[in-house]
Amino acid sequence: MIIQRFFLPQHVFAFIVLASISLLASASQRDHKYAGDDAITLWVNKVGPYNNPQETYNYYYLPFCKHFEDDKAEHSWGGLGEVLQGNELINSEIGIKFQGAVKNETICSQKLSKEHASTFIDAIERQYWYELFLDDLPMWGFVGEIKKGVKERKEVAYIFTHKVIDISYNNDRIIQVNLTSDNAILVEEGATLTFTYTVNWFKTTVPFHRRFERYLDYSFFEHKIHWFSIFNSFMMVIFLTGLVAIILMRTLRKDYARYAKSDDDMESLDRDLTEESGWKLVHGDVFRPPQGLVLLAACVGTGSQLAMLSLSVILLTITGNYFEERGTILTAFIVCYALTSFIGGFFSGGFYARHEGRFWIRAMLLTASLFPGICFGIAFLLNTIAIFYHSLAAVPFGYIMAVLLLWAFISFPLCLIGTVLGRNWNAAPDFPCRVKRIPSPVPERSWYLRPWAICLAGGLLPFGSIFIEMYFIFTSFWGYKVYYVYGFMLLVVLILMIVTACVTIVGTYFLLNAENHLWHWTSFGISSSTAFYVALYALHYFLFKTKMTGLLQTCFYFGYTSMFCLGLALMCGAVGYVAAASFVRTIYRNVKCD
Ligand SMILES: *[C@@H]1O[C@H](CO)[C@@H](O)[C@H](O)[C@H]1NC(C)=O
Ligand SMILES: *[C@@H]1O[C@H](CO)[C@@H](O)[C@H](O)[C@H]1NC(C)=O
Repeated sequence: MIIQRFFLPQHVFAFIVLASISLLASASQRDHKYAGDDAITLWVNKVGPYNNPQETYNYYYLPFCKHFEDDKAEHSWGGLGEVLQGNELINSEIGIKFQGAVKNETICSQKLSKEHASTFIDAIERQYWYELFLDDLPMWGFVGEIKKGVKERKEVAYIFTHKVIDISYNNDRIIQVNLTSDNAILVEEGATLTFTYTVNWFKTTVPFHRRFERYLDYSFFEHKIHWFSIFNSFMMVIFLTGLVAIILMRTLRKDYARYAKSDDDMESLDRDLTEESGWKLVHGDVFRPPQGLVLLAACVGTGSQLAMLSLSVILLTITGNYFEERGTILTAFIVCYALTSFIGGFFSGGFYARHEGRFWIRAMLLTASLFPGICFGIAFLLNTIAIFYHSLAAVPFGYIMAVLLLWAFISFPLCLIGTVLGRNWNAAPDFPCRVKRIPSPVPERSWYLRPWAICLAGGLLPFGSIFIEMYFIFTSFWGYKVYYVYGFMLLVVLILMIVTACVTIVGTYFLLNAENHLWHWTSFGISSSTAFYVALYALHYFLFKTKMTGLLQTCFYFGYTSMFCLGLALMCGAVGYVAAASFVRTIYRNVKCD
């Protein structure tokens, strides 16, 4: 029964994921159709400094006047992903009717106290912008602007008090919304701010399904550079796989030939063995279980899970335009992580059993909790800071519990089942050579054959194949652009995996040829060092490409970056390690071991 449940065809997996997402996602599944003079809700979402995308606050954190009672604020019920991304939609109660034009109507009026004036001035100086939603379409505007005053000689803060909302519609649907701010008023103590708005309606023939296209920056994402980099990486893959194949074929054939010859001839065998150096000498050591087997099992298991996870989330996002709905991709990621825990357990359990580890429960616990545990730790820290700042980036307690329950009741049991099945089905030790009782010493080698040098060199090529894509991903994540080219991303992930596997195989070959038989962790390090370069790139990006300031934003930048790099390190590490392990088994299979 249980076994059958986990070998369902792929579309059933997709179905489960989509069903869980729609359960967890926001229930705003309206049909977006309006008639007559239906009321349309204008939601206010968040405000924050333009340069700090994660430093966001509730719209009414700024002392805007409102014409409803504080405790009567109507909130839109957000899904898991929407809340985790720091959204909180409040009904602005600004009256808008379908096709009903409004000419300069008053929203509310307020007299600025000293305290409110200085809050507004500070916000305008830090370029606060805000986000509104109308029929699930976002629009953005700045709170105010800094310019030379009429009377004053110096720069002073002006606040926009008039909003012009242009809406275009096609029959019964809203297609496009524009927000323009107007009527800047000097912010000073005692000033009276009268907020007004105008709504204009225009007819259009743009079909409903194309209404999100204007948010996609085609000229940025489909720039020549992007295509060129994909092409470049692709050529690199061909070149690299060819190179690996040629080098290994030639070297191995030569090695085998020499070995076969000495096999016929006992004297030359003796001579060859005494003279010979290289990977064959360490056959009695390479299959020895590595130090820290539990940790390696957890890393390889989690890494395989993350590889599956990224492929399935990317495939899922290619099938539908999920960027149109707030938070859906994040929800998909969390749900898919929980569901793919089975894979993590399966690989980790099998790997651990094959190396005759005895503490399989320990390995299973570590597999289930390593990545989620570290991410949760970082998130907890960030959350504490966000609460301290009263930022919207703080996640409410209920949503934290939801994530924890998802882990405890879906992820953890699946990991356990995976481990048990992995131990039973995937655990036959198929090592071609027996392990010697006493480990041979590892000879000293020149610096470029030491493990750390090989590891550092190993990350360069995979990083080279992804770093243009990194620029696009970072820019959309930290720079308010909607990432929509998931086809590119899929290609880049596949290229990354192939390049990582090739590079790790070459690196492991060099290591074994230097008679260093401690290849397990080194091959994991060769492949995961890509993440080290990505971390360096992220540092560069932070310093030179963004203008983030403040503790909150800096912590969020480096917190998110370290989660991303950890995930990347585990994923690449597992891919490289699996490639290296099958390579090692292959080359020793044709060698007489004793
Ligand atoms: C809107 O009305 C206010 C007074 O209520 C006036 O000060 C303002 O100039 C008007 N704005 C426009 C754009 O007509
Ligand atoms: C919104 O602004 C864009 C660009 O300025 C313009 O092309 C479009 O027609 C505007 N839409 C509406 C509804 O005014």
